[in-house]
Parts: sequence; C-alpha cells; structure tokens
Amino acid sequence: MDKLILSEKQRENLKGLVEKIKSVMPPGLYSHSMGTLKYAQKLANLHFKPEAKRDETEGKHTEDSKREIYYRLSVSCILHDYGKIYDYMELVETVKKNKLNINKFELNCQSLIHGFVGDYLVKRDFGISDEKILKAIKFHTIGYCDMSLEDKILFISDKVEEGRSYEGIDNFRNLSINNINLCLLEIYRSTIIYVIKRNKLLHPDTSKIWNSICGGK
Ligand SMILES: [Fe+2]
Repeated sequence: MDKLILSEKQRENLKGLVEKIKSVMPPGLYSHSMGTLKYAQKLANLHFKPEAKRDETEGKHTEDSKREIYYRLSVSCILHDYGKIYDYMELVETVKKNKLNINKFELNCQSLIHGFVGDYLVKRDFGISDEKILKAIKFHTIGYCDMSLEDKILFISDKVEEGRSYEGIDNFRNLSINNINLCLLEIYRSTIIYVIKRNKLLHPDTSKIWNSICGGK
C-alpha cells in the first residue's frame, strides 16, 4: 500500500503488529503474511482509484476513505493467518470453551478453521474490534457472497503472493492486475475443481458464493 496515505499513528500500529507476528510465527508463515501484505498493496494501488466507485456506497474514494480502507486491508493481511500459530486441537478447544458460533463442518475442517477462529483470536490477542477487519479475517479462506473490494484483494493476495508457486499462478497474477473479478472467479473455479478431484469436502456456502461470483443470486 502507498504508505504515505496512512497516518503516523496507523503506520506505528502496523509496525507493532508486524513485530508481534514476527515474534510468534514460524518464519515461513511470517514471510507468507508479509508477502500477502505486499501483494495486496500492489492490488490496492491499482484498483482503488480516486475516481472509482466504492463497493459499499456510491461515491468516490476520498483520501480519508482510502486511508481507512488501506489501513483495514493492511491489518487484515498481516493478521489473516494468525490462527495458524495454534494447532488444530487448540483451535477446537478455543471454539468449545468460548462457545464460538462455528458450525460442525467448520469445526471439523482442519485446513479452514484458522480463519473461522481467527477473528476471535485477533480480537482477544490484539484488541482489534473493527468489524470489517474481523470479517475479512474470518472469511479469508472461503470468501463470502458479494465481497467488498478490499476483501477480494486479501482473498486473492493470500493465494498468489510472490512466495507461492504452483501451476497456473502466473495466469492468476495477470488476472489480479487486469481483471480482479475474473481473477476471483478463476481462483474459485480452480479451488472447487481441486477439492472435487481429490474427494475432499466443499464448504456448504461454496455453491452460494460461486453463484454470487458468477452474477447469480
Ligand atoms: Fe494465508
């Protein structure tokens, strides 16, 4: 993100978050988190143009609204995988002990649970209460219907940041720059095919999100 747009206090806050995750995350996870932030900065600079219309409201991105969006996106990127510092059983215990509203499928899903508990954990451990940040973190693994532009950016950056490498990633990276909605659709399509080919389970919301991305209701 264009750091100049952030206030001094926001920059200090982000620095503090980065220092904290560096001290608690394994190096690979820390570097993925920073890679996600860096890629999201690039996409935010490309896609949040002053003359662009906002996702949630009609109107332009003023410097103020851009600052808030950039800040929220930065926090979400830095902390999106914070839940991964805990092992699966610890996350299950956290859900049960705190009676978190997570369904049985999500509780049993070892690869996704870090997101569904992530919002609770960053609220507890970092005192973050901004509902948009918490939502972005909670749903960064599967997405949700009608995602905001900043949440699309987090979702995509997590999948294509420069530290990742897999077949087809260059195509996703190109699309993320040239057509972010098509990029979202292609990543979603490839994830669904990947899951089905391996006889893995699909999240119950996946078909709804797929229809929403394709323009259905
Ligand atoms: Fe991630």
